[in-house]
Amino acid sequence: MIYIGTDLVEVDRINALIEKWADRFLMRIFTSDEIAYCQRQVRPVIHFAGRFAAKEAVKKALYSSGWPDPIPFRRIQVRRDRNGAPVVRLEGIDEFPRVSISHTTQYAVATAIVESR
Ligand SMILES: CC(C)(COP(=O)(O)OP(=O)(O)OC[C@H]1O[C@@H](n2cnc3c(N)ncnc32)[C@H](O)[C@@H]1OP(=O)(O)O)[C@@H](O)C(=O)NCCC(=O)NCCS
Repeated sequence: MIYIGTDLVEVDRINALIEKWADRFLMRIFTSDEIAYCQRQVRPVIHFAGRFAAKEAVKKALYSSGWPDPIPFRRIQVRRDRNGAPVVRLEGIDEFPRVSISHTTQYAVATAIVESR
């Protein structure tokens, strides 16, 4: 069976959270590799928003597949392959959710797919 999750994020909302909580927010949600990648970009908040949406989309797909436990944001790691496509790993777990991310200056959206065995 295949399960899907999607999430839409307002970039301004992520910007407000970063302005209010700074590193506390970033380090609760993102891995150090994700933070480093986003901070190298011209407008980091857009890429943080994309990764935030990706993590929410993965949670939705996993919860709809019957996943029993809460999943901390940082456990969902969004990396990039050599073409720039997002690749997700779940720390300590053999699940391989597939994710697609898109963003504008205003919104970021992500879709995730999980296949149950
Ligand atoms: C992939 C591509 C269509 C993305 O178009 P885009 O309009 O810039 O994408 P959006 O702005 O909507 O979304 C950006 C997100 O797309 C995702 N993305 C980037 N490259 C990607 C790729 N090759 N495949 C899938 N997703 C990709 C990333 O998650 C990116 O967000 P991030 O930079 O925060 O990680 C475009 O960059 C492209 O054609 N690249 C060619 C690279 C390539 O794959 N070459 C090898 C095969 S010929």
